Amino acid sequence: MPNPSRDALIARLPKAELHLHIEGSLEPELLFALAQRNGVDIPFASVEAVRAAYSFSNLQDFLDIYYQGMSVLQTEQDFFDLTWAYLERAAEDTVRHVEIFFDPQGHTERGVAFETALDGIERALKAGEVELGISYRLIMCFLRHLSEEEAFATLDQAKPHLHRIHGVGLDSSEVGHPPAKFQRVFAKARELGLHVTAHAGEEGPPEYVYEALDLLEVERIDHGNRALEDPALVQRIADEGLTLTVCPLSNLRLCVIKQIGESPVRRMLELGLKATVNSDDPAYFGGYINDNFRAIADALDLTEAEIVKLAENSFTGSFLPMADQIQHLAEIAEVAGGR
Ligand code: HPA
Ligand code: ZN
Repeated sequence: MPNPSRDALIARLPKAELHLHIEGSLEPELLFALAQRNGVDIPFASVEAVRAAYSFSNLQDFLDIYYQGMSVLQTEQDFFDLTWAYLERAAEDTVRHVEIFFDPQGHTERGVAFETALDGIERALKAGEVELGISYRLIMCFLRHLSEEEAFATLDQAKPHLHRIHGVGLDSSEVGHPPAKFQRVFAKARELGLHVTAHAGEEGPPEYVYEALDLLEVERIDHGNRALEDPALVQRIADEGLTLTVCPLSNLRLCVIKQIGESPVRRMLELGLKATVNSDDPAYFGGYINDNFRAIADALDLTEAEIVKLAENSFTGSFLPMADQIQHLAEIAEVAGGR
């Protein structure tokens, strides 16, 4: 049930977004504009036709369109425009900190230099810090449908830029590409001082979540829905205090759940898991972070205390230093208490 007082709380609460693919924030309008600017052919006649194509039955359906969409991103300015548009939108949702993913292999595979993507994204993130007050971390994902060798090559490309990249992640087609495939690459990334996270348990079984923990030694689990099928795994995630970056509207659009009321967020909180709410690929899944909050708040009739907890988890699950986390928690307490 909609609840105006709860919506007002969601609108005002400071929050961090920990699961956002910057390429997935490419709105159809910008996709069209960039296609024109760069003379890239796209198989859509209008913005409406693009939106109409955003109907997916599973993760792979989406990924096919997502990689196609990326083809319009060619220059440093394109990556800046993409990232800046996201940050401006995030600021409207009182997002104070973002830890965004980018997919370098989605670009280098098309002949766009690693640095072109990195420079444009980083320039916008730095501007966002100054002009919008949004701090950031940048996480480079390996595409898991590609080989271990290609992931190593990507890590090599990142090496001159390790002061600009804070972590590695693992995304793309999950089933058939278990975390074990990237054990050595992740070991190397950890050795280089990078944070590590991985998509696990979105479509893949609980065993993939175990592998992410045991073999990749991840600090967070992206999605993690299917971990709930295994009580021992749930206990372990709770005991280790690991954060889960859940994406409700993504889950709905990719048919991970049949209706928004099936979102595991409330259940995770009840089980003592550190769930967070995120938008994943907002241009494709019909909503930014506050849309995700409102969708589950309405469907699950979340209490204000639960919403506050989710906002708190977004900072305590971030890669921010403790002092910064504490500052954000104090700001949350102020907003939540001053009602
Ligand atoms: N899952 C896996 N890979 C992705 C996703 C996702 O939700 N979004 C972009 N790449
Ligand atoms: Zn994702």
